[in-house]
Amino acid sequence: MTIKDRISDKFKELFPGTGAFYMSAGRINLIGEHTDYNGGFVFPGAIDKGIWVEMKPNGGKNVRVYALDLGEYAEFGMNEEDIPAQSWARYVFGVCREIIKRGYDFGGFDAVFAGDVPLGAGLSSSAALESAFAFGIDDMYSLGIPKFDLALVGQATEHNYCGVNCGIMDQFASIFGKSGNLMRLDCMTLEYEYYPFSPEGYRLVLLDSVVKHELVGSPYNKRRESCERVAARLGRRFLRGASMEQLDAIRHEVSEEDYKRAKYVIGEEKRVLAVCDALKCGDYETVGRMMYETHRGMRDDYEVSCEELDCLNDLAAECGVTGSRIMGGGFGGCTINLVRDELYDDFTGRAVAAFAARYGHAPKIYDVVISDGARRLD
Ligand code: GLA
Repeated sequence: MTIKDRISDKFKELFPGTGAFYMSAGRINLIGEHTDYNGGFVFPGAIDKGIWVEMKPNGGKNVRVYALDLGEYAEFGMNEEDIPAQSWARYVFGVCREIIKRGYDFGGFDAVFAGDVPLGAGLSSSAALESAFAFGIDDMYSLGIPKFDLALVGQATEHNYCGVNCGIMDQFASIFGKSGNLMRLDCMTLEYEYYPFSPEGYRLVLLDSVVKHELVGSPYNKRRESCERVAARLGRRFLRGASMEQLDAIRHEVSEEDYKRAKYVIGEEKRVLAVCDALKCGDYETVGRMMYETHRGMRDDYEVSCEELDCLNDLAAECGVTGSRIMGGGFGGCTINLVRDELYDDFTGRAVAAFAARYGHAPKIYDVVISDGARRLD
């Protein structure tokens, strides 16, 4: 049974009538990690895994929503004091609140949702959830919310209702994704460009360490604070555009830890631009080299890796994989690997066996299919 059929059956059981279907995607990111909240560039794409939701106005003022994968139900009003207890329901509530705060008016609705984007794997399951609801509410009530604002609604939901001071990358990718294309987003100007991505002779594959990545309550916000402190010391709004020389000049004025965080971010900005140039001339070897450098920076300077991810990265290097690095916020989740076609079987086979022998469980493998972002399904 497809996800859509399962949702549809549950909707019929719980609510009167049938609703409209929406889907929004999880994401990958080729390069540009922890650059979004520093005003830098990111290079994400939407994937074929995401969150599906069936929704229908219910004529009342409350939201009634069922999380099919969890088997949990929540009902809440849309005033600030109505915040639900369940953490998953806060994403839905937050989206409603953020839309209302932007001056739009809409009524209650019924919804059932489910997904196939693995939770806590660093593939932005929460952005997919926020985007599916933001897109759905906008469409269902013909609110005419500009597309970028739908992404901002999701981001503000994370900030104000979920405790994660994230950047805009995940929600942007989830909403703006386009099949076969990566996107380069300038997080300072919010200008973006689609980059068709089908590297001949290579594949992107994710290896999921199955170490749960959970940004709520994680040191993610602390990383951001470090960057903001250094930017302020440099008299800038963002670290974007700062040079290593400028950073070195104030080294004694910031903590060693903050220095390392900023060093990583400044290096990552250069790597993203190098990858853009390399992609234009089909130089995937350079793309891959930059990915390994990013991994080292995230491991040693930004310190958001973990033993299992370092192991997956080492295995990729040993197998001769072109590029490999930790993907997303860190603290668990997946590595993203740029692999030559002929190495794929050898790499995935060896990596699974060696990782399982060491940690007692196999990593999960997801082939990346770059897909469309938020949409209505007819
Ligand atoms: C998480 C956040 C994003 C971004 C990445 C790291 O996915 O939600 O905004 O900061 O981490 O690049």
